[in-house]
Formats: sequence, C-alpha cells, structure tokens
Amino acid sequence: MLADASNVMPGTLKFDADQMFFSESLDRVDLVVHGRNSFEGQPNSALRNRIVLTRATRSLERDASNPRATLWNPAGASFGDARAMAGVASGTVAVIGGPGVFAMFASHYDVFWLSQAHRVQMPHGQGVFSGVPRHTPQDVLAGWGLKADAPRVLDSANDVTVTPWRREL
Ligand SMILES: NC(=O)c1ccc[n+]([C@@H]2O[C@H](COP(=O)([O-])OP(=O)(O)OC[C@H]3O[C@@H](n4cnc5c(N)ncnc54)[C@H](OP(=O)(O)O)[C@@H]3O)[C@@H](O)[C@H]2O)c1
Repeated sequence: MLADASNVMPGTLKFDADQMFFSESLDRVDLVVHGRNSFEGQPNSALRNRIVLTRATRSLERDASNPRATLWNPAGASFGDARAMAGVASGTVAVIGGPGVFAMFASHYDVFWLSQAHRVQMPHGQGVFSGVPRHTPQDVLAGWGLKADAPRVLDSANDVTVTPWRREL
C-alpha cells in the first residue's frame, strides 16, 4: 500500500531512512514526474525540475505557482513536448507516482526502487500499483520486465527495505 483508505500517505508509512534515501535520490535526477497528488514535499522540492500530470490543462502549461514545474495532460501533448517545455533534453527521470503514473511508464524503467515497511498493515489502503493486492507488487514489476536485485536494509529496527528492480537486458 502507498496510501491509506482516504488516499493519504500516513505517518505510519514514513521512515527517516527511507525519506532520506528518497530525497537524496531525487537530488541526483534531472526531472521528477508525478500525478497531482504525489508531490514529495521535501526541503529541496523547490529546486527540482518537475512535470505534474493533471487534467486541469488541455495539453501543457507552466505552473504559475512553481517556476520549475510544467503541468502536463498526456491526452493533449507527448512526454517529449512536456520535457521540452520543462527544458530537460536528456538525463535521468524519476517517476514517483501515483499508481496510474507508475503504470504509464511501465515499459521505460531502467530501475524501479520498491521500498517496503514489512511490519505495517494497511487494510483497505491504496495499492502501489493498480491490481494490488489482487496481485503482489512483485508480480506487477516482473510483468513489466523487471527483475529484483538484492534488497538493501534501510531501517533494521522497523524492518524497512528497498529493492531495486532492474530491467533485464
Ligand atoms: N508511499 C509512496 O511511496 C507514495 C508514492 C506516490 C504517491 N503516494 C501517495 O499516493 C496518493 C496519490 O495517489 P493518486 O492515486 O491520487 O495519484 P496521483 O497520480 O498522484 O494523482 C492523481 C491525479 O493526477 C492527475 N493524473 C494522473 N494520471 C493522469 C493522466 N493520465 N492524465 C492526466 N492527469 C492525470 C489527475 O489530476 P487532476 O485531478 O488535477 O486532473 C489525478 O486526479 C497520495 O496520498 C500520495 O502521497 C505515496
């Protein structure tokens, strides 16, 4: 689950080591892409170039509230056009959710970093991908052509891990 039953990511899913891993990783990318509800809200967020998916625009427009953000409706413009408006011609893109946006880029990931808090139970929450929990997240990632590498322990006291799922060559 990536959010609770009211579609909010609760504090019980937030762990300092995972938040640090997430934040430091985003500091190294050239572009962040996410749906309107998945803004990461970190100290360095304002420094990051980003594309925000929304149907509030017909195709593309600059976000009046954030000079580094481009609003994108895929029904009206390509990702290439969105990148051009964002001013990012090449580099690393981080797709950070939510579930529909993860699926949209399914065939493009070089690596998907799956963090898990193994002791947290969230009945009726929102699955990380559509189809979860009917399918496991691991089934979905394998279906996207990705293969698990060795997990890293982020927080042993709380049993929080992150597993890189890499594209098989
Ligand atoms: N635990 C985690 O690691 C994690 C990761 C990501 C997200 N989350 C949490 O999950 C929740 C967000 O989930 P969400 O399902 O609401 O996802 P979301 O993708 O962040 O937001 C959905 C909104 O994004 C826009 N959108 C998405 N796909 C679109 C498309 N194909 N075309 C045009 N616009 C599109 C729409 O905005 P408009 O309504 O403006 O049209 C839609 O209402 C939040 O609570 C977030 O904090 C948690």
